[in-house]
Amino acid sequence: MTGEMMVLPDIQPNLLQISRNTKLSPPPPSKSLVFGHTFTDHMLTVPWSSISGWSAPQIEPYGPLRLEPSSTVLHYAQTIFEGMKAYRDDNGKVTLFRPGMNMNRMNSSATRVALPNFNGDALLELIKELIRIDKHWIPKEPGHSLYVRPTLIGTQKAVGISPPNEALLFVICSPVGPYYPNGFKPIALYGTTEYVRAAPGGTGAYKIGANYAPGVLPQKFAAHKGYQQNLWLHGPEHYLTEVGTMNMFVVFKKEDGSLELVTPPLDGMILPGITRDSVLDLAREHVSGKKKLANLSDKLTVSERPVTMSEVKSASLSGSLVELFGSGTAAVISPVDRIGYLGEDILIPTEEDGMGPVSRPIWKELVGRQMGTIESDWSVPVTQ
Ligand SMILES: *Cc1c(COP(=O)(O)O)cnc(C)c1O
Ligand SMILES: *[C@@H]1O[C@H](CO)[C@@H](O)[C@H](O)[C@H]1NC(C)=O
Repeated sequence: MTGEMMVLPDIQPNLLQISRNTKLSPPPPSKSLVFGHTFTDHMLTVPWSSISGWSAPQIEPYGPLRLEPSSTVLHYAQTIFEGMKAYRDDNGKVTLFRPGMNMNRMNSSATRVALPNFNGDALLELIKELIRIDKHWIPKEPGHSLYVRPTLIGTQKAVGISPPNEALLFVICSPVGPYYPNGFKPIALYGTTEYVRAAPGGTGAYKIGANYAPGVLPQKFAAHKGYQQNLWLHGPEHYLTEVGTMNMFVVFKKEDGSLELVTPPLDGMILPGITRDSVLDLAREHVSGKKKLANLSDKLTVSERPVTMSEVKSASLSGSLVELFGSGTAAVISPVDRIGYLGEDILIPTEEDGMGPVSRPIWKELVGRQMGTIESDWSVPVTQ
């Protein structure tokens, strides 16, 4: 070779080895499912090393990993993840929702913590195969799905801090029920001024493991005060950023009577949620007339702009706060009815079903596209 760079192999679906689980478990009754506590019979693993690149992928029985106690992941949190759902329609057809976006985001999270990149289409092909093998685990009841959790960890045995020369990508699957089995139940948020989730130039825009452990104590703190989730604020202006591990939206009524749907901009502190992107797309398609949503006002503007607590508080007092909600894969839309802020409660309107006039029609369209009852190119087939 004359000075040519050796190109290491990317993920190679054609090398997939499958060793079937000989002790299949019966999926538990759907009613007993607790989010993310039950796992299917199989998992996917793909090892990587800096010398040989990505090696042969394996689908094998779900079970413990063998790791060196010196593995970098166990010391410096060299770990990133994704969360996506597979749905089964009434005819038994299985689909994923916008999975290409998860693959791109995972690759960008990997880059941020110096874990190896990979071809997203190749990983997606393997994930589809894993889902096909365990598809009987997708509960048949409406609103249920299979939560798919791709993860990438640094496995080099070394307690020095550097990009790992060995890594392991794995994917596990968990059958889940609807987040709100008995209709929407609005949540109360604690406007958190004691802790931050993300900061400018930090890692809040990536799904890296290290972002999540520090949020558990503040969540306990909020729960102790009687609120379900943290409303993460930024800076002395108390800009609203995210809700728990969800993105957030707020709807204001403007002086001319029209509505404004607002979400904070992707400024490096906001996780680029796929549900967030979908809510924005649906609202913009409605406004442009590309696809009108039933029962949604035509007098609507859609903004990605900063929002402060003082804007939310004065809108609540003047009656121009219409609704506030979180968005994410697990709950899809999560209405909020109260924010504890500097010792007082800011009240947020909700309608009888727990939702609001903008979130309800968007939720209906979104869930329809996820479940496949509304056709769209966001729904990607896993089985025919
Ligand atoms: C995953 C996640 C979201 C939501 O992203 P989706 O792709 O919509 O599920 C929002 N905020 C944080 C911090 C997250 O980890
Ligand atoms: C992965 O992400 C990095 C950084 O965002 C980008 O440079 C690279 O092209 C991506 N690779 C693939 C295969 O998508």
